[in-house]
Amino acid sequence: MTDEFWTASEHGGEEYFAFLARLHKFLKPKTYMEIGTMGGHSLILAKCPSLAIDPEFEISTNIMEGKSTCFLAQMKSDRFFESYDPTTFLGGAVDMAFLDGMHVYEYLLRDFINTEKFCRKNSVILMHDCLPTDAHVARRQMSDQALASQSAHPRWWAGDVWKVLLILRQARPELRITAFDAPPTGVVAITNLDPQSDTLSKHYLPLIDSVRNVTMKEIGEDKFRQMVNYISTSRAADAETTAQFFWL
Ligand SMILES: C[S@@+](CC[C@H](N)C(=O)[O-])C[C@H]1O[C@@H](n2cnc3c(N)ncnc32)[C@H](O)[C@@H]1O
Repeated sequence: MTDEFWTASEHGGEEYFAFLARLHKFLKPKTYMEIGTMGGHSLILAKCPSLAIDPEFEISTNIMEGKSTCFLAQMKSDRFFESYDPTTFLGGAVDMAFLDGMHVYEYLLRDFINTEKFCRKNSVILMHDCLPTDAHVARRQMSDQALASQSAHPRWWAGDVWKVLLILRQARPELRITAFDAPPTGVVAITNLDPQSDTLSKHYLPLIDSVRNVTMKEIGEDKFRQMVNYISTSRAADAETTAQFFWL
């Protein structure tokens, strides 16, 4: 990835690692779970007992910084949740989660469903890459180059995980969802969770089908951002303002 990947933002806002670091400092989670870790650059930001799930870790940094425990599960998230309960590793409910695994919306929806079960009502689930900058970046298959020539970022790929926001808005209106611009492709924070809810798992297939043929090209990324109450991280730059988006 070039430096441009991490800094360019036509929508402004605070780059996602800096934003995540600020959320950790402000929310002070007692436990942290991450799906999709790669080199460990997001995992390192957690200072509490942590659990990370990734089928192919490529850790290149001291991820233990400030942590008493950190469990690594080298497997796909679906397999992890079939066999394990995250609270046994964390010693309690998941306080903060960062979902950044497979960038296909069915996977992210399952990661959300499986994570919420182990959260509390006011835990925060963060989802990465749900605010793609254009229809090319929002494509499902990385190899699909049909819209590349119209994109300002022909080499970027966020996948179609943005469709999970459409599903959550429709099926779980009580969730408190805030979509922060956090470049390159956004961080969405979800709270007011219900670990007992079975709405998403019960209606999983019809919900998946309901957005299958929706495209970002039809919606338009600006309209999509309005639909999901997008907010610039520059507006949430101080702790007091950040608080408004979570619990107040
Ligand atoms: C974008 S990278 C994560 C980056 C990291 N969170 C960061 O911010 O530095 C995505 C990671 O998801 C992992 N991944 C892919 N499929 C997965 C799955 N089914 N379950 C869990 N992780 C998965 C990949 O191996 C890859 O390391």
